[in-house]
Amino acid sequence: MISHARLLELAREYGTPLFVYDGDMVLERYRDLFRFIPCEKLRICYAMKANYNPALLTLLRDAGAGLDTVSPGEVLYALKLGFPRERIIYTANNMTDAEFEQVLALGVTMNIGSLSRLAKIAKHHPGIRICLRFNPDVCDGDSEKTMTGGDLTKFGILLDAVDEVRRLVREGNLRVIGLHEHTGSGLQHAESVYRSMANLMAIATPENFPDLEFLDFGGGFKVPYKPDEKRIDYVSMGAEIARRFEAFTAKYGRKLDMYFEPGKYMVAEAGYLLVEVNTLKRNRTRLIAGCNSGFPQLIRPVLYNAYHQIWNLSNPCGTPQVYDVCGNICETGDRFAEQRELPEIREYDILAIGNAGAYCYSMGGVYNLRPMPGEVILHDGKVFAAHRGLTSEELADRILEENRFK
Ligand code: LLP
Repeated sequence: MISHARLLELAREYGTPLFVYDGDMVLERYRDLFRFIPCEKLRICYAMKANYNPALLTLLRDAGAGLDTVSPGEVLYALKLGFPRERIIYTANNMTDAEFEQVLALGVTMNIGSLSRLAKIAKHHPGIRICLRFNPDVCDGDSEKTMTGGDLTKFGILLDAVDEVRRLVREGNLRVIGLHEHTGSGLQHAESVYRSMANLMAIATPENFPDLEFLDFGGGFKVPYKPDEKRIDYVSMGAEIARRFEAFTAKYGRKLDMYFEPGKYMVAEAGYLLVEVNTLKRNRTRLIAGCNSGFPQLIRPVLYNAYHQIWNLSNPCGTPQVYDVCGNICETGDRFAEQRELPEIREYDILAIGNAGAYCYSMGGVYNLRPMPGEVILHDGKVFAAHRGLTSEELADRILEENRFK
């Protein structure tokens, strides 16, 4: 946990907007999973799409984490950061032939989520080792846009297609070393995790897939976003997961590795976006606090209607009032919070937006040509790494350079 006083200090030192991450919390989350899930062959492949900050990734690399990657860019970046290829799994969707060849040549495990790709592999790459992504047929997640199970989504091979899968695997003499499913992000019910596991384990028989080395149950572990939201009891969930997996491996006849690919759980709560309020305005019924960041820098409220907690660091004891906390982008939807009660906000106050560690910077962009904020990573109580982001002038020059147009 980073104290509010420390956040204010960092805002002063580095300026705002600024992302701040607690590296120690990320490491703690990683280690906690091994405590929660008592399975001797557990591997955690952090979903780096949640936050690809290189300093955070370095901490996780040194702690022994693996990675879930989803594009050739992520794979190359991970290798450049020194992650061993054996610790990386590649789960692209709708990849091109060129992407497939590129990642195959890099030597990481490919997770294949469509019959069409499987047929191409059987034809052109007989004998290779692959993982197969199935659609667990369970719908859960924190928003409609983040549920990945069920046949209304584009993900994975349907469980019903297992015979067709077996035919293609035989045809290409492929070695299926892993099976994978991912149910969604921010899973609301422990029961969904168990059901998805059960559905995947049901097809993971030695008759169907004799060469299995691991089962990968994806990510999706939820963390609270609202102040009154209950924390999931991961101790009992972890014990149940381990128990079910052990029963499965006993039946399968061999001990297999169990993979999970958490993103949000590992980094969401470790991050804050610090912004400064520069304009207060009353528009008849609405009190508007306008600040120096906007939805391209933290898009979750706009995209998923997500709730992110906000603290007024500069005036924590101010008389509560109800605000729309808005950004600096020329769009009406550019709000971090609507009708939110907060301690009185004055111009130049610093606000901290919580749970900004996952899917905030990584989903960011430079719409309206506002550069992405800097990032500071704390570790062992000290600043472990920091960058200030680009200035507006550097951003302008970079775009002109990229376009070779000056
Ligand atoms: N594995 C696979 C194959 C995935 O597609 C994902 C997330 C994960 C693991 C990690 O899921 P997590 O543990 O982070 O829930 N942008 C959205 C979340 C999208 C998740 C996409 N896939 C959000 O901000 O809520």
